[in-house]
Amino acid sequence: MHKIAVLPGDGTGPEVVKEGLKVLQAAAEVTGFDFETKEFDFGGDRYLATGETLPEGAVEELREYGAIYLGAIGHPDVRPGILEQGILLRLRFDLDQYINLRPVKLYPGVECPLKDKGPEDVDLVVVRENTEGLYVGSGGFTRKGTPEEIAVQESVNTRSGVERCVRYAFDYCRARDKEKKLTLCGKTNVLTYAHDLWERTFNEVAVEYPDIETDYAHVDAICMWFVKNPEWFDVVVTDNMFGDIITDLGAIIQGGMGIAAGGNINPEGTSMFEPIGGSAPKYTGKNVINPLAAIAAVQMMLETMGETGAARLVEDAMVKTLESGRIKSLSAGKMGMGTDEVGDLVARYVRER
Ligand code: IPM
Ligand code: MN
Repeated sequence: MHKIAVLPGDGTGPEVVKEGLKVLQAAAEVTGFDFETKEFDFGGDRYLATGETLPEGAVEELREYGAIYLGAIGHPDVRPGILEQGILLRLRFDLDQYINLRPVKLYPGVECPLKDKGPEDVDLVVVRENTEGLYVGSGGFTRKGTPEEIAVQESVNTRSGVERCVRYAFDYCRARDKEKKLTLCGKTNVLTYAHDLWERTFNEVAVEYPDIETDYAHVDAICMWFVKNPEWFDVVVTDNMFGDIITDLGAIIQGGMGIAAGGNINPEGTSMFEPIGGSAPKYTGKNVINPLAAIAAVQMMLETMGETGAARLVEDAMVKTLESGRIKSLSAGKMGMGTDEVGDLVARYVRER
């Protein structure tokens, strides 16, 4: 029995999570596994009502679950940063989800903004470090509010934190078995301490993986190459901040936020899966948001739970849905179908497998 904690969250989160669970239910029926869900109301509305982001004991309770399925966090009436730090980042940190896994895969039938590029060119995975770097919140102000104000925000990189991420990336690259090529993305020419540590760690760990070809790219150059030559990449490993930035670029070359999903992975603990597009408040309740990213998150969750057959089924159903030509655009409001109709269609293809 798989225990899944469901956090629908804010904005369009609940709408897309509903469709993801519909598809999960279909996959469970077809492949014959059991799961139970419990819903948690963490998010902007709860914060506005109670002043609490995550209540006392929430993290401990979530630790008991095999996986967390998250919709979106972010509310127009809450100052930016409060919910992100108090819920999303707090869960990533406290549950030690040290990998943010973000596949960048262009499915057939999806329009790619890159000229002359197709599904065979855009198929890479970014392994983003998820608990360190600029995200730890280390630093502070001095003389705040004066003309002499100083703001310092430090990037914290530990040998053990970098090494476990790099090792995960090598293992993932080996298991993925595509081109067996791992690219380190950094900025060694400027971040001469932090990324020196990354580079040394990467090169030392690489010795243990003679079957994996290694490469290095500066983050600015990788932004260019993701656009010009995405086919050069198989697996890319990088720090938290750069990973945040290059995965939005990755999302747009795979068709946009309507289809991009990610996993916050603790290989030894509780992982959390989410569509990466955010809460999109202006589309809330209109049944126009694309649930495919949330469905792709279910697919990643199934894979991590060891239900690989079900994961494949969901992916195949997504491909059939996209190839059917019935979804006019992956963008919210332009699909030509309702959120629920897209979920129904994917669930139907799962059942018809
Ligand atoms: C993401 C988001 C978050 C991040 C924000 C909401 C804190 O942009 O998951 O990529 O920066 O990690
Ligand atoms: Mn981001």
